[in-house]
Amino acid sequence: MSDTKILALVGKGGVGKTTLSAAFVRSLAQMHPEAKILAIDADPAIGLAIALGVEVKQTLDDIRKEVIEAAKNGAGKAAVELLGEARFRIFDALVETEEFSFLAIGRPEGAGCYCAVNAYLKEVIDMVSKDFDYVVIDGEAGIEQINRRVMEKVSHLFLVSDASFKGVQVLRSIQKVAGELVMYEKCGAVINRVDNPEILEQMSDIGAPIVSVIPSDGDLALNDIKGQSIFALKADASVLEGAKRALEQMGI
Ligand SMILES: Nc1ncnc2c1ncn2[C@@H]1O[C@H](COP(=O)(O)OP(=O)(O)OP(=O)(O)O)[C@@H](O)[C@H]1O
Ligand SMILES: [Mg+2]
Repeated sequence: MSDTKILALVGKGGVGKTTLSAAFVRSLAQMHPEAKILAIDADPAIGLAIALGVEVKQTLDDIRKEVIEAAKNGAGKAAVELLGEARFRIFDALVETEEFSFLAIGRPEGAGCYCAVNAYLKEVIDMVSKDFDYVVIDGEAGIEQINRRVMEKVSHLFLVSDASFKGVQVLRSIQKVAGELVMYEKCGAVINRVDNPEILEQMSDIGAPIVSVIPSDGDLALNDIKGQSIFALKADASVLEGAKRALEQMGI
């Protein structure tokens, strides 16, 4: 499908990206029961799997390594054959549920750099998105994946912050570069855990419109500590309502 909507959630650590990604997946599945939805956990810590209640067997990093091995051992194979094989492996690694498919980037072992798997993720987003109507990407905290153009093909960029100075500062720095590095159609900010509306007055210059404001959600906190997925929440939970508002405001 050429008109795939690719949603990505970015922002500072701990502001609610994973929770909202899961809430988006649940809301999209409910709003568009026929649609094909792919959830991508682009955070090496693999939090989205828990939030969606799926078990990860193979990550993108596992596949990347296998493909590199296969390429080394398959000197006779044509490049197109290896490419087909990579595609097959990626689709094979998708966790399928009735509501959505799921893929996790995984955590490369060894010190430091995620560049290789991030570069791979960028290609994979290109490769697999066509087969889905909606792709929801739970981004790694911070600005790295924007700078590395992993988010280049994202059509709907959600800047997520809590009601903190640092959170909003991160949004401002992402917003500044996203215009150049992300080919988005729409960009909007979601402000999470706002219990005092006065706080919003301090957030006028994020550079993107605020598309949803979400209060602290006691039911979500309880759900979280029990290790339950987003699907265990009541349909009228404020985080789910807030997610729906954000989707509507962004024209999804
Ligand atoms: N509106 C809310 N009300 C109550 N708790 C919330 C709310 N939003 C998020 N949380 C809780 O805050 C914590 C952090 O949220 P989450 O993991 O979604 O953030 P994150 O941005 O993905 O963090 P990280 O950058 O570490 O991946 C979780 O325990 C989550 O349950
Ligand atoms: Mg997270």
